[in-house]
Amino acid sequence: MFPAVFTLAAAFVASVSAISVTSPTTTKGWSNSGSNTATWTSVSTDPLNFTLLLTKMSDSTYNQVLAALVTTKDGTVTVGAPSSAGGWPAPASDYRLNLVQDQDHVSTIYAQSNQFNITAPATPSGSSTSAASTPTGASPVNPSGAAGGAPGGAAGTSGDSDANVSGSATDTSTSPAGTGAALAMGVQTGFVAGAVLLSAMLAL
Ligand SMILES: *[C@@H]1O[C@H](CO)[C@@H](O)[C@H](O)[C@H]1NC(C)=O
Ligand SMILES: *[C@@H]1O[C@H](CO)[C@@H](O)[C@H](O)[C@H]1NC(C)=O
Ligand SMILES: *[C@@H]1O[C@H](CO)[C@@H](O)[C@H](O)[C@H]1NC(C)=O
Repeated sequence: MFPAVFTLAAAFVASVSAISVTSPTTTKGWSNSGSNTATWTSVSTDPLNFTLLLTKMSDSTYNQVLAALVTTKDGTVTVGAPSSAGGWPAPASDYRLNLVQDQDHVSTIYAQSNQFNITAPATPSGSSTSAASTPTGASPVNPSGAAGGAPGGAAGTSGDSDANVSGSATDTSTSPAGTGAALAMGVQTGFVAGAVLLSAMLAL
């Protein structure tokens, strides 16, 4: 009975589209802090766009639009916390994404994700994340230009001085070392041959 109904539903979903949600998954869920990314595969005959709904299997009344008019062929969308519902919902393990036709046709489901967890960030990593995200957030916004420019300039400067220093160093060192090496080579070859012979004789 139940398998038959399930098969029917699966067949219905499959007949409407070939979209297949690849994340989130049962083993890789979402966080209820920051933004989250959904990914899927599709084929060219699929509907051009869909609306991304967050649903909760144990609560059929929970039905949150995360994004409308998502372009199907993009294959990925990153969504922020739903503003109309007080942000991400409480952590739980039975959320599911429905990719539906649009907000007026939420029962025309093109695809569904696996059931997945929405978890709260761990407390230690939460504090270290916020500590880390403050500088990170600050640097892209303001020092970004300075930070970007400084390493760029530093890299350029060090590149120049490297080239200059190594150029002159190579020039000075190669000429004496080159001549010296060539000269020393002959001497050394004799030395080495003698040394090898000597050590061979000593070994006997
Ligand atoms: C999802 O949540 C359930 C219930 O809290 C937990 O047992 C399970 O380990 C979680 N799975 C992952 C991948 O975090
Ligand atoms: C959304 O997709 C439908 C079905 O493929 C299409 O008819 C409609 O033109 C699309 N709308 C936009 C704004 O792309
Ligand atoms: C490279 O080294 C030479 C000789 O020391 C110096 O005159 C020149 O200014 C240097 N150039 C750069 C770009 O540092």
